[in-house]
This record gives sequence, C-alpha cells and structure tokens, in this order.
Amino acid sequence: MGGFNYVSRLAQNYPTSGIRAMFDLATGYPGAINLCNGEPNFETPQHIKESGIRAIEAGMTKYATEPGLISMREAVANKYTREFGYDYDIYNVMVSAGGVEGILLSLMAILDPGDEVIIPDPTYTCYLGQVLTLGGVPVRVPLYEENGFRLQPEDLEKAITPKTKAVIVSYPSNPLGAVLGWEDIEQLAKVIEKHNIMVISDEVYEKIIFDGRRHFSLSQVPVIRNKVLVVNSLSKTYAMTGWRIGYVVGTNTDIMRSMFKMQQAVISCLPPFIMQAGADAINGPQDCVEAMRRHYERRRDLLFKGLSGIPGMKCFKTEGSFCTFINIKDFGMTSWEFSKDLLVNAGVMTVAGSAFGAMGEGYLRMCFANSDENIIEALKRIRSYLTRK
Ligand SMILES: Cc1ncc(COP(=O)(O)O)c(C=O)c1O
Repeated sequence: MGGFNYVSRLAQNYPTSGIRAMFDLATGYPGAINLCNGEPNFETPQHIKESGIRAIEAGMTKYATEPGLISMREAVANKYTREFGYDYDIYNVMVSAGGVEGILLSLMAILDPGDEVIIPDPTYTCYLGQVLTLGGVPVRVPLYEENGFRLQPEDLEKAITPKTKAVIVSYPSNPLGAVLGWEDIEQLAKVIEKHNIMVISDEVYEKIIFDGRRHFSLSQVPVIRNKVLVVNSLSKTYAMTGWRIGYVVGTNTDIMRSMFKMQQAVISCLPPFIMQAGADAINGPQDCVEAMRRHYERRRDLLFKGLSGIPGMKCFKTEGSFCTFINIKDFGMTSWEFSKDLLVNAGVMTVAGSAFGAMGEGYLRMCFANSDENIIEALKRIRSYLTRK
C-alpha cells in the first residue's frame, strides 16, 4: 500500500485567510511597509516579563488545572467585579490560550452539529472556521457603513431561526474600528432576551478605544447576563500576543463547567508561569495600558488625516481597535485587486476587505499598530502612487 492520501472534508473546505494571501504575495516585495499586522508593535511591559521569569524560576513549569491558575482566575473575577459591577468569582472564569481558544471553547460548550451561529459580516476571520470545525452552520448578518458598522437589532432579529444557538458580537471591532454605545447594547439586548440563544462577545479590544468613549458589554445588561460569554485576552491590552493568554467570563455556570471539562481536549491547560504573569498584568499598574492607548490614538489620527487627503480613500474614523476600514469603491476595483495594486506599485501591504466577509468587498483594512515613521512613509507612498495613477 502507498501513503495515506485523504484529507478531511473539513480540512478541504476550511476557509483560507485573505491576510495570509497578502503575506504570501508580499514575500516577493521585501521593502514593503506592513500595514496588515493586527498586533501591538510595543514590547510586553517589563514588569510583566519579570513576573513570567520569576514564575519560571519559582518552578511554575508543570501542568496546571484545566480552568486555569487560581491567581489568574481571581485577578479576572476581581477585574470584572470592579468594572462591570457584578459579583464574579473564579467559577465564572475560564483561562484560555488567547481569545481564539476562548471563542472555540465557548462554541464547543454551546453547539451541536447543524446548529446555526450568527456571525456579523464583515468580521474577524477566525469565527467562521471555528463554527465549521464544530459542524455548526454560519449565518452571516450584514453590517452597514451607513450605520457606523454597528449591528442593528432588526438585522439580528431577522437572522434568528429556531436553529440559532449563538451570535458572535465583536466590538471594538477588527476590522471595522466600530464601537457600540450603551443605547446599541440596550437595543440588541431586547432582541437577545426574547430568544433562547447565547452571545459570545469578543471584547479583546476593550481598552483600545478613542475620543473619550467607554467600552460597553452586553453582559452589563442584567436580564441577559446569563446568556453572555465575554471573551477577552491579554494580547492587545498588554502587548502579549505571543504569550497566548486570554479568558472567558460568564455567569452561566453550566456552560462554564463544560468549558473547564473540555479544555482537556484542546490544550489541557495553559502554562502556569504564563498565567501567573497574566494575573500580575491584570493586578499590576495599568498606566502602560493607557500609555499604549494614547499612542494608538495619535497614530489613528495620523493615518486618518493622511488618508482623508487622498482622493477616493473614504475612511471610517476608528472608534476603537487599531484597524481602519476604508471605502475604496470609487476606484472601481475589487478589494483584492486594489490591495495587490498597492503592494506592487506603492510597496504597502494592506488587507482586502473581502477577507472579512462578502460585505467587506469594496473596502480595505489598514492597521496603525505601527511606528509613526512607517505610517508616514506608507501614506507618502500611497499618495504618490494614487495621485499619479
Ligand atoms: C477581534 C479579535 N478577536 C480575537 C482575537 C484573538 O486574539 P488572541 O487569540 O491573541 O487573544 C483577535 C486577534 O487579532 C481579534 O482581532
């Protein structure tokens, strides 16, 4: 017999990342400026690094329990008790390998094959593949620029069927940069209250929010709190993307207990020294978070102002996250063709809006988690290319 020659149907149909497509193409353009990366360009703050090193030296290098280190779960529970005004404890907290695993565990605890999950369009790319992996059926609900890319209660209502098990809500939004106000939260909560569905609320950008806005969560609405799983992460807030630490917070203890159990199947547990550093990040000084947020806000302004001066580039002014979504419909090209064009002719890497769903066609995503110099140079290149085109 020859070698094994079968790849699962899931693997065959697994969505390929439009972001990866740009990275692959860009290998042929070594001088290109990368405005694709949705990751802080700051170092993890020194006191957090030192906490991780201390924890390794103290021998925190063995297996831990599935839901996570008590100190990390306490830190998260205290943070949410403080910030959301509800009394959380460690049984409301599941530690995960970044927000990505938090979303997967949430879905694992809710979904049966054939169940529908409502996913906004455009949105962060991971959700689709995760729902498909569990045999779920993704149902896309459009987000419109004229509504500031905020999910509309009537659009959510229309998408709900007897098979709907969950809706994924993601604000501040990657790739859109949109944020929900309290009124939006209240209106969406009215729809959710009526139906037997869960909300997975991806709030990994909660601290990267601009112009004096505040972050609001569906889990702050008492009548639906039990139906909401908040997914959060230390990746963006503390520039800890490579540490792979996040968590899920929920008051529905049956669902939380299911996640504790199923972590066995995924990675069994997080490294304890990473969880200790995570606890110290959350309990420690937060001025580093505010300092990074201010840099992002300044860079948001730099990019927004620069792009606004280029004919045809219609920017949504980012309210939160470090992504800017730009309407490029005036150029009459598909977003992939346009992003390719910018790479080849201007030497700037961007992501085609279509990578985030069909509704992203006609848009481009740029990230400003980058140095001022790179943003200025990228703007110069784009302006120079598009004005001589
Ligand atoms: C909206 C959103 N959710 C979740 C994640 C996952 O981040 P992590 O797994 O590093 O916490 C990302 C990362 O880019 C994101 O943009």
